Amino acid sequence: MEKSVAITKEQIEHYQETGLLLIPELFSQAEIAEIKAVVDDLSHKNTPGCILEKDNKTVRALHGCHQYSDTFKSLIRYPRLLTPACEMLGSDVYIYQLKINLKGAFNGDVWPWHQDYVFWDEEDGMPSPQAINIAIFLDEFNEFNGPVYFIPGSHKQSLTHLGQKESANTENVWESNVSAALKYSLDQETVTKLVNQQGIVAPKGPAGSVLFFHSNSVHGSAPNISPYPRRLLIITYNSINNIPRSTKAPRPEFLVSRDYTPLKPLREAALV
Ligand code: SIN
Ligand code: MN
Repeated sequence: MEKSVAITKEQIEHYQETGLLLIPELFSQAEIAEIKAVVDDLSHKNTPGCILEKDNKTVRALHGCHQYSDTFKSLIRYPRLLTPACEMLGSDVYIYQLKINLKGAFNGDVWPWHQDYVFWDEEDGMPSPQAINIAIFLDEFNEFNGPVYFIPGSHKQSLTHLGQKESANTENVWESNVSAALKYSLDQETVTKLVNQQGIVAPKGPAGSVLFFHSNSVHGSAPNISPYPRRLLIITYNSINNIPRSTKAPRPEFLVSRDYTPLKPLREAALV
């Protein structure tokens, strides 16, 4: 049975207020199993955009899989993702980025506190944060396996990150945009102040749950020392009215898609 794609006025308001919207089990367990089989297969191949953890063994993340995998080419056009993305951004959208953060059992490492938009602005020249992340839980997210922490309401602020001022003179190494030693991160004072005002949430739920989060929502995650993997697929849609300016050192296509064709919804069918 196809899931309804209608998103309510209350859900949109909640997203606008907190920068977050969790929809439990938007994907069935069978659909998630198919996606995971593809992820598993890709993580054993040396695909472009694959990055390892510091141990040089554990796969940390895969990027740009929609550029070569039929499963992901279809998934980004699924109405249950695409329709709400267009509604939330108020325009047609194209795919900006797709990544899978694997956060492996025992070895999945930290994501320092940050806002995503600072990367897209500094590295890619994105004019405004008119982009949205849709994160699909490929495993259960629980208190043990390094769920993502968010500061609700933080998306309303544009914050200065460590590394931002120095970045003009540094070499552009794409791995520093996605490694545990993240190029831009927030200092402890900023995070403390925000958390004292607004608290922290860690959205949890069964595999198949979907979290919409704003491109300026402050987030990060702790290492996964549990025996449970915590795979997260994040699709970023950008408004077609928010095309990045060209930059001197363009990041690889697997990190920043430059096909600005508006996505049209597919009739949902079996993923593969
Ligand atoms: C995570 O996968 O824990 C963090 C995701 C992100 O920063 O985009
Ligand atoms: Mn992020």
